[in-house]
Amino acid sequence: MAKPPLSMKPTGWFQVAWSDEIGIGDVHRMKYFGEEMVAWRAESGELTVMNAYCEHLGAHLGYGGTVVGDVLQCPFHGWQWNREGRNVCIPYQDRPNRGRRIRTYPVAERNSSVYVWHDVERREPYFDAPDVFAAFGDGSAADGYYPQQRLYRPGLELHPQYVLENGVDFAHFKFVHNTPIVPVFTRHDFAEPVSFVDFTITFEGDDGQKIEDVNSGVQAINGGLGIAVTKSWGMVDNRTISAVTPVDDSTSDVRFMVYIGRVAGRDPERAERKADEFGREVIRQFEQDIEIWRHQRYSDPPALAADEYEGFTAIRKWAKRFYPDMHASQRG
Ligand code: FES
Ligand SMILES: [Fe+2]
Repeated sequence: MAKPPLSMKPTGWFQVAWSDEIGIGDVHRMKYFGEEMVAWRAESGELTVMNAYCEHLGAHLGYGGTVVGDVLQCPFHGWQWNREGRNVCIPYQDRPNRGRRIRTYPVAERNSSVYVWHDVERREPYFDAPDVFAAFGDGSAADGYYPQQRLYRPGLELHPQYVLENGVDFAHFKFVHNTPIVPVFTRHDFAEPVSFVDFTITFEGDDGQKIEDVNSGVQAINGGLGIAVTKSWGMVDNRTISAVTPVDDSTSDVRFMVYIGRVAGRDPERAERKADEFGREVIRQFEQDIEIWRHQRYSDPPALAADEYEGFTAIRKWAKRFYPDMHASQRG
């Protein structure tokens, strides 16, 4: 276990909650990127994520702050703040304070997740948070799948990049996930902030089979460092989302979500039970990775086998673009 040497203030979209944790009128406390934050849902249903401290005298809006229509009211002196973080009412003065502003974050809600855009340089979002269905362009949608199954592991000493490096790490599958044979990567595209990894893999059969004969695999799309979505083919139809969000300089919250495809059949209850079991198995496999990641010490430069060079070099070069606060010469 070791504090990650990579920046814990990367740029990109990161999950901070699930949408159903924040109902209309709720004020939800959270801490990410070393900042106390609140997420609050206006009467209109719109969600705002902002820093937690009132710009007046610094009350924490997550302790007693209330949603009033489409603004958030501070519990201390009743000042009201809108969805842009601007003061719109001082109850004992005829005009608001137009100068001060609470820092707000761009928000995207999709696949039941709340994602925020984080950038130390305060640039606007320059890529989209991937949707676990739409990103694959295959016409799939949530209604073709059983409800989302979830894993939440807060406060682990790991970095989002550890998780994405799984996407080039062919050798771990046999050891961590007990796959019968080593998978083969068929696509590594790290040209853009949204990157693509495809691989042929099987979890069935024995170690005598040949990878050329395997008819199943996984496609992964990484939306920056914070979110990765996957689609499987040739096996039980499943989609996953992994989301890792830095909390402070040494820990991250990990969320993992699985959708299992619905199949038409005679016994819907049995099918749902089977889907639930399979979803739990997918989550179990992800937890096997977590046990490695949370005790890992990031190795830089790593000792690599010859076949590992290309993939690890590509993903690490790609990742550097998301660390504007690290030394300029390291930026790729
Ligand atoms: S501290 Fe928020 S209104 Fe005074
Ligand atoms: Fe893995």
